[in-house]
Order: sequence, then structure tokens, then C-alpha cells
Amino acid sequence: MKLRGLLFALLGIGCTAYTPLSDKSLNSLPGPGSDFDIHNGALLAPILTVRVPGTPTHEGVMHHLAGFFREQLPDWKLEWQNSTSTTPATGDKQVPFRNLIATRDPPWAREGDVGRLALVAHYDSKLTPTGFIGATDSAAPCAMILHAARSLDKALTKKWAAMEADGSAGIDEETGIQILFLDGEEAFSSWTDTDSLYGARSLSETWEKTMHPAPSTYKTLLSSITLFMLLDLLGGANPTIPSYFATTHWAYRAMASLEHRLRSAGRFKSSPNHISKRSPDAERVTEPRWLIHGDKQDNQGSLAFMVEDDHIPFMARGVEVLHMIPSPFPAVWHRIEDDGAHLDPDTVEDWSTLVIAFAAEWMDLEGFIDTGFVTREENAGSGKGRREMEGKSELTNPS
Ligand SMILES: *[C@@H]1O[C@H](CO)[C@@H](O)[C@H](O)[C@H]1NC(C)=O
Repeated sequence: MKLRGLLFALLGIGCTAYTPLSDKSLNSLPGPGSDFDIHNGALLAPILTVRVPGTPTHEGVMHHLAGFFREQLPDWKLEWQNSTSTTPATGDKQVPFRNLIATRDPPWAREGDVGRLALVAHYDSKLTPTGFIGATDSAAPCAMILHAARSLDKALTKKWAAMEADGSAGIDEETGIQILFLDGEEAFSSWTDTDSLYGARSLSETWEKTMHPAPSTYKTLLSSITLFMLLDLLGGANPTIPSYFATTHWAYRAMASLEHRLRSAGRFKSSPNHISKRSPDAERVTEPRWLIHGDKQDNQGSLAFMVEDDHIPFMARGVEVLHMIPSPFPAVWHRIEDDGAHLDPDTVEDWSTLVIAFAAEWMDLEGFIDTGFVTREENAGSGKGRREMEGKSELTNPS
């Protein structure tokens, strides 16, 4: 992605209508275990390799991402969206770009009626410098999203089964979730409108033209995306994330509130107040937040720079975007040092927890997350999302 020196501050209106996660649910979100280990973690390690489109190691990562869903999350619908293009670095050769899309919708819903939360990261890596692995850019975000999909899967199954059982299926708006692993984000030589965002440009163009059969709530595949949450350059210590867009500042604030709650609950491993980082009798220190504009009513005056990234062709077509990218960029940005060793493992894990929490609220999963205990909600049975539950494994634990 590229920084563009554009001042960005608009007034916006937002709304939120979902049930916040309870403390108990928040404290029960599953960690990744050793799956983010940079040497042999099942999710992250296979992505920490060169991923230049059209090369065998890129192909290997494609298989890793698709294989994960095929083997572990069979209820997700997998699709490829492919295109080819020449690039300034590869002459007349048509370089293949392949976006991987994994979707989970309510089982009864007609496709055109489902609005989806999209969790998005690019999985390609930059051609130069030679050997560049792009650990924050965006190997770690891809691994976070895999873990998030896995962590939400069982609770989604449980929620939708309960809705079918109690007759509430099909009454409200239909909400689904979609993972977009985009290809060809990076420029092959230097960033221009045509040398960058190969996958995102192709997917947004194609989906804008792909109509759902009438009558449908959403006219096209593109308009089915109700929020495009893009993760990029994440995994280094101490990021600061401004609120980039007025119209999604409300969603940014929902995420900021979850960050705050996870920190207060001692769930943030990267926090100086985490149990692993201070002696039990030491006072809590004031800790910096990642989402620095969480207390602002709007994003006016946040002075965020416009960043050119995969959201651009989607946003240009009217898609709402929540951009989780640090400003300033990490010091290792586009340098050979953006490798596994420069990731902060606690930060990678904390990001994944935060993303899971945000998506769980968006999907209204309160009451369906395994808290590991028999719980009896005071209002059990009084409404959707509040049910007695017992036993384990609404959320999948990493094996
Ligand atoms: C798109 O690419 C994937 C991955 O290489 C391949 O499996 C699939 O068959 C391709 N789809 C089309 C329509 O060419």
C-alpha cells in the first residue's frame, strides 16, 4: 500500500444495533495455542514464505489457505475469482491472480438476501526486495483471519440451529460472514493505479456486475458486503490505528470498546499490565491503546492520512470500509526485515482476539460462545441470543 498525503476528515453518521458480548464470552474467546508459531505453527508458519503471484511458493500458500477451509471448516463455501494481467516487471507474460473467497451464510437464506461482514487481507508478497516475506504484510493478518473463522464457526452453527428450531429463522435481516484473501495487492515495480491491487480491482469489478436474481435484498455480490474490514501491516509491537472513515467510525468505536474491555480484563498479552509482564503486587500502569480515536464522537480532526490499499476499488464502488492499518506504518515496512522474527507474538495473538470479538458481536453470537461452564442466564429463554447452555466447544479450540 502507499501513503498519500491527503487530509481525510468527513462528518458521518453511524448506528449500532447488536448485543455486546458479555464479560464471560469475552473472556472465553479461544487463543491460537501454538498455531501462530513462526517456525512450525499450523496456521502462520506456512504463510511465512515468498508469495509472489505466479511462483510455486505462492501456489503453496494458496493450497494452505484453501486446504484449511476444506479440511477444517467444511460448512464454508469456497470460491476462486481469477484474473490475469501483465505487469511492468514481467513484460508480455500474463501473471495469474487468484482471490480466495470463503463464505458462511445462514443455511436457510437466499444468497441475495444476506448482508456480509467481510474480513479481508492480501496473501501475496512483494517481488522486491528479493526474499521479502511480508510477515506483517500480510502473512500475520491472514493467519489471524484463519483463526477467527475457526473460532466463530461452531457458535454460528449453534446460533443458526437455534433460530431454525425456535422459528426465528428468516424473520430478521440475514447476516453472513465472508473471508476475502486477495491476491496481487503489491506493485511489481512501483505503485501506480495499474501496478497494484490486481486482485482487488478484478474482484470488485466482477462482483459489481454480478447481479442477484430479483427480488433480492442486495442487488449485486458487491453490495452484499455490509462492512469490509481490511487488516494490513499488523503484528508488530505497539501499533496505532487511526479512524480513517467517518461513515464507519461507529464500527471503529465498537472495536475500540472491545479493545478497552479486553485490556481491562487482562486478556491482552501484549499489555504491560498483563499478568506475564508485571509482578502481582505492582500497580497497573497507564497503557497506550491501539485504536487511538475510540473516545472521539466522530473522526473529525483525526488527521489520518489516506492510505492506498485493497479497499480502494471497493470503496470507490460504495462499499463501507473499516481499515485496520497502523499509522505510521511499521518500521520494517517493505524491508527485508519484515519477517517472522520481527513480529511480536503477543501482539499477533491480541489482534486475533480482538478481531474474533468484533466479528462475534457483529454476528450477534452472545449466548452461543462456549464459556466452558454451565451458565444460566437470568433471562434464559426470553429472547434470541440468550439461552441456557452447557458443556463445551461452541468455539473450536486449536488442536
Ligand atoms: C481459479 O484458480 C484456482 C486455483 O488455481 C483453480 O483451482 C480454479 O479452477 C480456477 N478457476 C477457474 C474458473 O479457472
